[in-house]
Amino acid sequence: MITYREANAFDLSVFVSLDKELFPYSPWSASQYKEEFSSPTRHFVVAIDETESIVGYAGVFAPGAVEADILTVGVVPAHRGKGIAKALMALITDWAKAQGSTAMMLEVKTDNHEAIGLYESLGYSTLNIRKDYFGAGLNAQVMRLELS
Ligand SMILES: CC(C)(COP(=O)(O)OP(=O)(O)OC[C@H]1O[C@@H](n2cnc3c(N)ncnc32)[C@H](O)[C@@H]1OP(=O)(O)O)[C@@H](O)C(=O)NCCC(=O)NCCS
Repeated sequence: MITYREANAFDLSVFVSLDKELFPYSPWSASQYKEEFSSPTRHFVVAIDETESIVGYAGVFAPGAVEADILTVGVVPAHRGKGIAKALMALITDWAKAQGSTAMMLEVKTDNHEAIGLYESLGYSTLNIRKDYFGAGLNAQVMRLELS
């Protein structure tokens, strides 16, 4: 069974190693995560399996009555296709709503069909493309969901 909880400082090293695996083009460092975890405008959640291992995570930046930015969402390959990302997205979206966020925004690599499928299934629409956002030749699709 998969359970969900807020992330804490003890999870930091797992976030860093999973980032290297899931986001090799833009992993965050331990010091970046440390700063993010300590900010009251950021919220990170994790999905845990029966062995207490982190199998998925998500984070959001929600500074108040403006748009919130999704910072990350990832699920380890062995646990994909089970609705874990959907559940993580619901948790961070609920938290952003509670902060008064007006919309959810994110940038996703234009060739990341799994993630784009996830966001479209949740009602996100594409605003525009940002060229070279993730590095030379790595374009981002900007997506948005209105919250109201
Ligand atoms: C994208 C990712 C987070 C999806 O995680 P997941 O737990 O497998 O997703 P879910 O099982 O919750 O699926 C939710 C929806 O996403 C879509 N989706 C998931 N996998 C998909 C695939 N392979 N192709 C198309 N759509 C897909 C579907 O609409 C699915 O809903 P459905 O099962 O009702 O059809 C996962 O593939 C991942 O970690 N990828 C690497 C990291 C990454 O790219 N993160 C996003 C960065 S912007």
